[in-house]
Amino acid sequence: MQVETILHVEKLSKRFGKIRAVNQLSFEVGRGQVFGILGPNGSGKTTTLSMLLDLIPPDDGTFSWFGQPPSKDSRKRIGSVIESPNFFPYLDAVTNLKIVADIKDKPYDDIDEVLQLSGLYERRFSKFRTFSFGMRQRLALASALLGKPEVMILDEPTNGLDPQGIAQIRDLISLVASRGTTILLASHLLDEVQKICSYVVVLRKGVMLFSGNVREVLAVSDSIEMASSDMPVLAAAIAEFPGFLASTAINGILQVHFDRPVVTSEINTFLYIKGIVLSHLSEKKRSLEQHFLELLQDTP
Ligand SMILES: Nc1ncnc2c1ncn2[C@@H]1O[C@H](COP(=O)(O)OP(=O)(O)OP(=O)(O)O)[C@@H](O)[C@H]1O
Ligand SMILES: [Mg+2]
Repeated sequence: MQVETILHVEKLSKRFGKIRAVNQLSFEVGRGQVFGILGPNGSGKTTTLSMLLDLIPPDDGTFSWFGQPPSKDSRKRIGSVIESPNFFPYLDAVTNLKIVADIKDKPYDDIDEVLQLSGLYERRFSKFRTFSFGMRQRLALASALLGKPEVMILDEPTNGLDPQGIAQIRDLISLVASRGTTILLASHLLDEVQKICSYVVVLRKGVMLFSGNVREVLAVSDSIEMASSDMPVLAAAIAEFPGFLASTAINGILQVHFDRPVVTSEINTFLYIKGIVLSHLSEKKRSLEQHFLELLQDTP
């Protein structure tokens, strides 16, 4: 089934004086995807999201939401948390959300629901100033969820949170995604993208280094090491294994790459049937982190 393209970005560029914050960036986001923009500090993530939300104008390039040029109407279908949350300190959560709803021209109907979703329902009549940092983040997410947006844009959603706060926000994002909301998330944390996102673009100094399916990146970057008494026979046999990509012999060990996740027991059985007994067999997981660091190193 063809996935509907929700966001199409074409050669988007932005300079700040001499700095090319975003340089010819192109990618597409499909409906229902959890899409990550991954890159180190200063790589252009916030600048990209700000352009996509019409907060700053691009110098060059275009983007379209829902197959149409950006407009107030399309903007209303998108919820976002870009800057640190700003609410009225002496008003409670419900009143703050009513004010947001008024500003966004949304009804009050789903205030209770977004408070429940974000786990703040019990504290809905507490003043914002009494909220912990994590609760403030969750109220920001709750306010972005008002009016049931089709897309959520989140910039570093777990910044500054403790492990428990991080887990809560990630669960909330997964829950929102499971209801069909498309999510575009910027993060400098690989782990975060790995855990939440299905697709990723990797940015470095405003330039896209890589884009693709997070799982494919992981699968391709895995390899399995093996050895037997007759290495040439082993190399020939494993080349017939479904999903085989390439092998390299290093110090009497054959390192084999596959285009899909492969478990060692599959390999063992496959080779055993061919009469090959292995003296060594182990998985070499290359994390997205290693892959990411390599990508960053490869580029001048
Ligand atoms: N308003 C601005 N004026 C001048 N330079 C800016 C401005 N906004 C961003 N930049 C520069 O553009 C580049 C990209 O910044 P951006 O904030 O988009 O990065 P980021 O990937 O979001 O980083 P971080 O992970 O630190 O949030 C940086 O070099 C930054 O200094
Ligand atoms: Mg940023």
